[in-house]
Amino acid sequence: MVGSANLNVMIKTARMAGRALAKDFREVENLQVSMKGPGDFVSRADTNAEKIIREELMTARPTYGWLGEESDAVEGEDPTRRWIVDPLDGTTNFLHGMPHFAVSIALEHKGQIVAGVVYDPSKDELFFAEKGTGAWLNESRLRVSGRNRLIESVFATGLPFGGSPNLPDLLQDLARLLPATAGVRRWGAAALDLAYVAAGRYEGFWERGLNPWDIAAGLIIVREAGGLVEPIDPKGDIMDDGNILCANEAIFDQFAKIIRNT
Ligand code: IPD
Ligand code: CA
Repeated sequence: MVGSANLNVMIKTARMAGRALAKDFREVENLQVSMKGPGDFVSRADTNAEKIIREELMTARPTYGWLGEESDAVEGEDPTRRWIVDPLDGTTNFLHGMPHFAVSIALEHKGQIVAGVVYDPSKDELFFAEKGTGAWLNESRLRVSGRNRLIESVFATGLPFGGSPNLPDLLQDLARLLPATAGVRRWGAAALDLAYVAAGRYEGFWERGLNPWDIAAGLIIVREAGGLVEPIDPKGDIMDDGNILCANEAIFDQFAKIIRNT
């Protein structure tokens, strides 16, 4: 697959940051047993990955804007384009020595996501897509699954933690969904949840209260793999409220009906 110059910069950058994270992840396993734990070390690994990404992208495209999880947003000289970046999605997994985390880089143009890269360095899986040219996992073209029976379908979500206000809604979703499906997974990295829907591993995914950097890259990867992505409340705005619902086309309506309770 030959991508645009922008996509190539995004891929090179995601691999570079991914390599740095993978190296730090090996350290986390040693720190796990110390009294202090790996907390400070992980936040340094996270900040360091964002620094690598920011330097690479802002050097390659100095006029673009920036929205990242770990540093201040920047409005670019070109106000129509900005990078949306999560240097380490799946931080809790990383902190606990679980190899399921990713670098997520998206490019937005005039309010639309036009390219996305999600890189999982532990499995060397690079998911990427560009508007109109399909979605890919390494060298293979991606397609959402064709399953159309809920009882054979597996879904992913994020479980609210801390004092999240989304817990009551989620518990009700699960009460309606679990009896009707083959199961629900919570693996702790929203960018990878979306990429897995694109890859046909999950039939669908939903979560409330995500941030733009959790979603931006995965969103275009799902759409380019043939999946449907909508706000949970049809009148909502995913990038604004972070409430997202996506699935393969065959199961979307049945799944959306349960999550929206309509
Ligand atoms: C988190 C992960 C997780 C989701 C959380 C996010 P982080 O991002 O994507 O799956 O449930 O809501 O905040 O903190 O690991 O970058
Ligand atoms: Ca995240």
